Amino acid sequence: TDQVLLRGRILSFNAEPQGPEDHAAYRYIEDGAILISSGMIRATGAFDQLSRQAPSVPVADHRPHLLMPGFIDTHIHYPQVQVIASWGAQLLDWLNDYTFPEETRFADPAHAEAMAEWLMAQLCAHGTTTAVAYASVHETSAEAFFTAAARRNMRMIGGKVMMDRNAPEALRDTPQTGYDASKRLIARWHGTGRAGYAITPRFAITSSPEQLEMAGALTAEHPECHVQTHLSENRDEIAYTLSLYPEAPDYLGVYERYGLLGPKTLLGHSIHLEPREIDLLAETGARPVFCPTSNLFLGSGLFDEAGLRARGICNAVATDVGAGTSYSMLQTLNEAYKVLQLQGQKLHPLNAFHWITRGNAVALGLEDRIGTLEPGTEADIVVLDSSATEPMALRMQRAETLSEELFVLQMLGDDRAVAETYVAGLPQKHAVTRAPRPALQ
Ligand code: GUN
Ligand code: FE
Repeated sequence: TDQVLLRGRILSFNAEPQGPEDHAAYRYIEDGAILISSGMIRATGAFDQLSRQAPSVPVADHRPHLLMPGFIDTHIHYPQVQVIASWGAQLLDWLNDYTFPEETRFADPAHAEAMAEWLMAQLCAHGTTTAVAYASVHETSAEAFFTAAARRNMRMIGGKVMMDRNAPEALRDTPQTGYDASKRLIARWHGTGRAGYAITPRFAITSSPEQLEMAGALTAEHPECHVQTHLSENRDEIAYTLSLYPEAPDYLGVYERYGLLGPKTLLGHSIHLEPREIDLLAETGARPVFCPTSNLFLGSGLFDEAGLRARGICNAVATDVGAGTSYSMLQTLNEAYKVLQLQGQKLHPLNAFHWITRGNAVALGLEDRIGTLEPGTEADIVVLDSSATEPMALRMQRAETLSEELFVLQMLGDDRAVAETYVAGLPQKHAVTRAPRPALQ
């Protein structure tokens, strides 16, 4: 049969921790096991008990490592894998100087396929088993993304960006072609295997009112799909948006007007918000997405996690590669911790690991499928080695609690701390495609 028993130290969350001592929010089993068959988790518990229950099932022994639900990245740009670490600019110049030229290359399906394959391998290498991605404007780029995800049976959400102005000619669709292509992609991919579609107007600056209107129509026709866009990342971006939509009360008012807000809507960045916009987030249930490495890299600003959470708003967290500087959700937590420190806020490791697993699953409305180790959910699992590097190993010698260990992973961890990544029950960490190294001038 295709059964396997993973053995190791097991950690999963069933609620958002309400403090460092909220032991009811998580389950930790020192000698634990996860029984998997046909890509699904069948049981999670003590190794003793599960091995007695299923004596003939082969054991993958990951002791002394930690087994957790695979990480979830709620905002990434797959055509930007070669934009990461582009020097010197803030948002609008960065888009014009680096990002838009790069995305034109995704008109070539072979290029898109190669990059999508490479992306999936890197996500697995970093312990990320689900991501929500922006493709380029080209329908074929979204096709390549979903095809590469399906090849590994990964639960991936994505969509082609809709953009019909303020971008190079080669990157523009029209309200009608953007609508039609998105519609075809939804029909082909949404609910096919583990794929989900996100309707993706890039942001207000690159969409005409007519295009946002069509995106709103599509959203109304497909309530099963996610919606993703960008909001209030940068002061110049906000000013430009308000000049393009002079009748809007504020930036979020643009998306409100076209029916794009609801609990399935993901709003990248959401940094510089007016009180009315925060009220509107709370009312509509739209999800702000915190992208710490990107916000620091582009000098965008500090995400007010505690302020939004206090309003009952459900925040997600993400890499935002290629403005983000790491694929690692651990490195994302590291920078998140520092961004919150600058505002007198704290990101406790229990909350941090809840966030990149169950928390992001809740933000996506997928907590019954992923971000958990409950029986009947999908077997996406990351195996973490908290002593993967010498600095980590040295620090771990002085660690006494689970929270301390998690904090070592949060601050010092990256792909080296990911010993294995299971996607739908199969190990994927080492199925990595390597980019050949070019000669430099
Ligand atoms: N706003 C609109 N497009 C983008 C993008 O590609 N990256 C970031 N960080 N912000 C955006
Ligand atoms: Fe982004």
